[in-house]
Amino acid sequence: MSVADDLIQRAERREILFGIIGLGYVGLPLAVELANAGYRVLGFDVNARVVDGLNAGRSHVRDVTDAQLGAIISSGRFVATSDGARLREADAISICVPTPLSKFKDPDVSYIVAATETVKRVLRSGQAIILESTTYPGTTREIMLPALQSTGLKVGQDFFLAFSPERVDPGNPVYQTRNTPKVVGGITDDCRRVVCVLYQPAIDTLVPVSTTEAAELVKLLENTFRSVNIGLVNEMAIVCDKLGVDVWEVIDAAATKPFGFMKFLPGPGLGGHCIPIDPHYLAWKMRGLNYKTRFIDLAGELNTEMPLFWVRKVGEALNESGRAVRGSSVLVVGIAYKKDIEDLRESPALDIIRLLEQQGARVSYHDPYVPKFEEDGHRFSSVPLTADVIQAADCVMIVTDHSSLDYGLLRRSARAIVDTRNALRRAEAR
Ligand SMILES: NC(=O)c1ccc[n+]([C@@H]2O[C@H](COP(=O)([O-])OP(=O)(O)OC[C@H]3O[C@@H](n4cnc5c(N)ncnc54)[C@H](O)[C@@H]3O)[C@@H](O)[C@H]2O)c1
Repeated sequence: MSVADDLIQRAERREILFGIIGLGYVGLPLAVELANAGYRVLGFDVNARVVDGLNAGRSHVRDVTDAQLGAIISSGRFVATSDGARLREADAISICVPTPLSKFKDPDVSYIVAATETVKRVLRSGQAIILESTTYPGTTREIMLPALQSTGLKVGQDFFLAFSPERVDPGNPVYQTRNTPKVVGGITDDCRRVVCVLYQPAIDTLVPVSTTEAAELVKLLENTFRSVNIGLVNEMAIVCDKLGVDVWEVIDAAATKPFGFMKFLPGPGLGGHCIPIDPHYLAWKMRGLNYKTRFIDLAGELNTEMPLFWVRKVGEALNESGRAVRGSSVLVVGIAYKKDIEDLRESPALDIIRLLEQQGARVSYHDPYVPKFEEDGHRFSSVPLTADVIQAADCVMIVTDHSSLDYGLLRRSARAIVDTRNALRRAEAR
């Protein structure tokens, strides 16, 4: 029997040990789904605090409850480790490490390189390796494949290598890891076939594509599509502001068209670990091929300018009552990068706070999900959202529209209010 068929048969009997490298927003939910599907899962993370917490039954990822984690630990199907050598026991290894940008906005694939080294040290015949981290087309073939084949083992025969982008949307109440279709591209046909069978018990729908490059590009297309469309509606917000037209009304009316229009909403700018970052991976790759990705660059520019646009709106609101930004107190409501989560990464609220402070405003914030944070050596703590606190601010700025916020209280108590999300009117309409 071929190595591929042996792995497939053992997967069908759930005799597989699944390794996960990187137990964050992506790796931990995936580990839970694989364990729930009947596999044993060995999670490896370089952060000992994460490993200890998980083994003690404490989840640091909101989408995974302590109860879900406790269930897979007590059934003996999940254990976390900070010993990468233990991955030798694993039959399949999914890599879910960060892919940030360098200081100069180039891809930082150092985590993928480090994870590949970990895998290389334990690679043996009969293993399937799957890269999940978002990255530029060519990463799996150009970075991982040569490193893994330098062991003397041959891809498609001895071991299997695929790229399968994670699409998880933290905090999404409907779509989670299991019911979000998953794209898989292999280095060879057998690589794709093996990985589809391995994931099949844990993921409702698998979408095989012909190559790892195609799979890598699928993820970048999805996130570039969002970045470009958000850039377009953000530009529309600026256009409407200049024309004195209500952008939200225009978008809501346009969205009544039953075909050919997809609703995107303007806001304070892009945030999170994906949309502001991933398009740069593609733009960087294409620069190396002497091609300038114009849509990507333009959307990036527009989206990056939005914090400044909204800070100008604060200036205008203060001007109405004869005040300058300098010396005024501004209460920023909601600082996570999107509603109902605690993630601050790349949040436009951080830019907004910095811009307001640069202009001399005294800034405080309220966010039920972020009790405190530190930025540029400056410590902030969330203030309670009471009528007194709201009334004391010269201007309130709604940056993140968390569902649990009391918008009625904000409306009644604020002296001036700038709403980057149209949250007040949406709350009123509910
Ligand atoms: N967060 C999202 O919403 C999301 C959605 C889709 C795709 N992605 C992509 O998935 C990847 C992972 O993102 P995330 O949000 O889960 O990151 P994260 O920061 O939440 O988790 C990454 C984990 O990897 C660990 N790690 C780093 N280097 C390691 C190494 N060499 N060996 C073992 N562990 C290591 C870190 O300690 C951390 O716990 C990124 O490429 C990201 O772009 C993220």
